Amino acid sequence: MIIACNWKMNMTTETALDLVADMATQVAVTGVQRIIFPPFPLLAAIHMRVAGTDILMGGQDCHTEQKGAFTGDVSASMLSDVGCKWVIIGHSERRQLHHETNDLIAAKVAAAQSAGLSVMLCVGETEQDRRAGASDAVVLDMLASSLPADIDPTRLAIAYEPVWAIGTGQNASEAEISAMHNRIGGFLAASNMKHVPVLYGGSVKPDNAAAIMAMASVDGVLVGGASLDAHSIKAITDQSAPN
Ligand code: PGA
Repeated sequence: MIIACNWKMNMTTETALDLVADMATQVAVTGVQRIIFPPFPLLAAIHMRVAGTDILMGGQDCHTEQKGAFTGDVSASMLSDVGCKWVIIGHSERRQLHHETNDLIAAKVAAAQSAGLSVMLCVGETEQDRRAGASDAVVLDMLASSLPADIDPTRLAIAYEPVWAIGTGQNASEAEISAMHNRIGGFLAASNMKHVPVLYGGSVKPDNAAAIMAMASVDGVLVGGASLDAHSIKAITDQSAPN
């Protein structure tokens, strides 16, 4: 069971260190892995605080190249250098606001793994896709096209995040999560990747986390808004158990 905290473009050094200090005092259940994804400028300071705890750290994105003339970008090897073990790639906010394509995302996944990072690849349909009855086709196409041919499945997790559920307070129902997770599981099994964990993300909160994490097809949660608050993330972690 993975509890992943996507802080997005939030926090200051002070609020972040407070939150991490708080999280570090909570002993996670055995078999539950906590991963935090702070914004880039906070990574080095946070690494000092989480080193020696059970909490792992990751970046929220990376470039396809490891270095070079790419003003404003951050490479996977830079993330690794400051103590990251993970990186989120293909989040819907990158796909939509930065127009990231599946091809670009596949190149980022390859770059991240070649720098030694594990990848949390996000996939999910929009409200429009859902209304058109295209959710399955969209998500399966994202999966097939966002994974490079030489993917290492031991350093990969998939986060199913329906775009309409992100930051809206409206999480997908258990039936919707289970149906999509089973489809994703089918794709992974057919691609010799059946041990890859599949997480759910989109308005996970203390009051719905237990039911979501108890589902057999759910190997973890990717939490945005609720991961910024010490009480909420503690409550979510308290309800987790390996499945
Ligand atoms: P949310 O964000 O929990 O605020 O809906 C989840 C995400 O975007 O990863």
